[in-house]
Amino acid sequence: MKSPTDLDLGNPIRTAAIRELDPLAADLACFTLRRQNADVDLPAMTGALRDLTPTVERVDTFSTEECVAAMRDLGMFLGSIRRHGAEPLELVPAATPVLHELGRRTDMVPRDTVHHYCTWNPVGDRQRMYTGDVQEAYLQESVRMVFPHLREGLELASRLSDLALEDAKFAQLTDELTGHTETMVQSIDMVVSHVSPEFFARTLRPYFEEITVDGRVLLGPAAAQVPLWLIDQAIWASDRSEPEYSEFLRDSIPYSLRRWRELYAHWDRIPSVVSRLVDSFGADAEEAVRRAPALRASAEALARLLRVIVVFRGRHLGIAKKAYDADLRLYPLGSGGASVELLKQIVDLTRATSQLTRPGARGHGHGAAHGGERRSA
Ligand code: HEM
Repeated sequence: MKSPTDLDLGNPIRTAAIRELDPLAADLACFTLRRQNADVDLPAMTGALRDLTPTVERVDTFSTEECVAAMRDLGMFLGSIRRHGAEPLELVPAATPVLHELGRRTDMVPRDTVHHYCTWNPVGDRQRMYTGDVQEAYLQESVRMVFPHLREGLELASRLSDLALEDAKFAQLTDELTGHTETMVQSIDMVVSHVSPEFFARTLRPYFEEITVDGRVLLGPAAAQVPLWLIDQAIWASDRSEPEYSEFLRDSIPYSLRRWRELYAHWDRIPSVVSRLVDSFGADAEEAVRRAPALRASAEALARLLRVIVVFRGRHLGIAKKAYDADLRLYPLGSGGASVELLKQIVDLTRATSQLTRPGARGHGHGAAHGGERRSA
């Protein structure tokens, strides 16, 4: 039995390689799945999943990249069967040990994630889709386009979390991070222009329902797994969040890559960047920036970053409200297990945090300001 990899599965070369792979010879079956979904042909898609499911012994001959591609393809059938009302692993129990093995080999959850569905999905003729509708393709592209930027951005956040705010490099690195985060705004703008809330709510959302794997409930491959929240964790959310958002973040982490889970664990133990900023401002922020002029540039750069995140979240909230409007929605909660109210709370928290980057903001005046509000690190 092979051991899990320490490969970086998000690396662009490896991502391109995974897109090319078809270890289960599933190209045709995946294409036919679109028709089976349109026809609500549950027996046909169940039969296809049964036929595609390899033995655990065969999985052992797969490379790690092939394991990712196999999970991607089986995942399309899991979500489709669930969408039509059945628990996929009750119908195809032989897939359970295979999902466990694929999850173990790739060091990920034992089902497909948004990264399988979007980033590791081929484009063009071989693109795996539940529906084949161009709106679905836009949603897949919206995640595909942000993935490399968030990956880079998280590495920058990692450097920032170890760097003094008084260091002149801090503002420059933060601006680089902001540049990567801006793709989230481009992504949501594209979705708002090309995807109707009706299509999302009525057609696509049902494919992202949770399934049960050996008693463990696992969420579907929806965009809520895009780790923007991990940038928050480094910048402010590790010790300035609210319980609901902390819980959402904690529940989302298992669906991410190992490197990101490690960053989360690290950031959970240390003060956030914004808390360090507040501490550096101290009782007299103007005096602090006179003493260390780079502090002002760092604070302004953080404000720019938070502004971009707020813009993404504001536009995202707009489409989420429409798609989860009581008259349109089929489900009260998002496929990430959270509500539109939580999204609103996250925007408010992000906005409130960005206020703390102003040296003159209220709340800097008492030494370790906001200490009382902080969750212990
Ligand atoms: C029709 C389009 C969309 C709708 C209706 C929608 C809806 C939602 C909802 C209801 C949530 C709450 C968590 C949950 O799902 O349970 C959520 C979270 C989230 N979604 Fe979307 N979403 C859409 C598109 C996107 C896109 C295109 C992206 C990024 C590429 C995205 C990124 C996120 C992120 C990062 C979260 C976690 C909360 C946050 O960090 O603010 N969403 N979305």
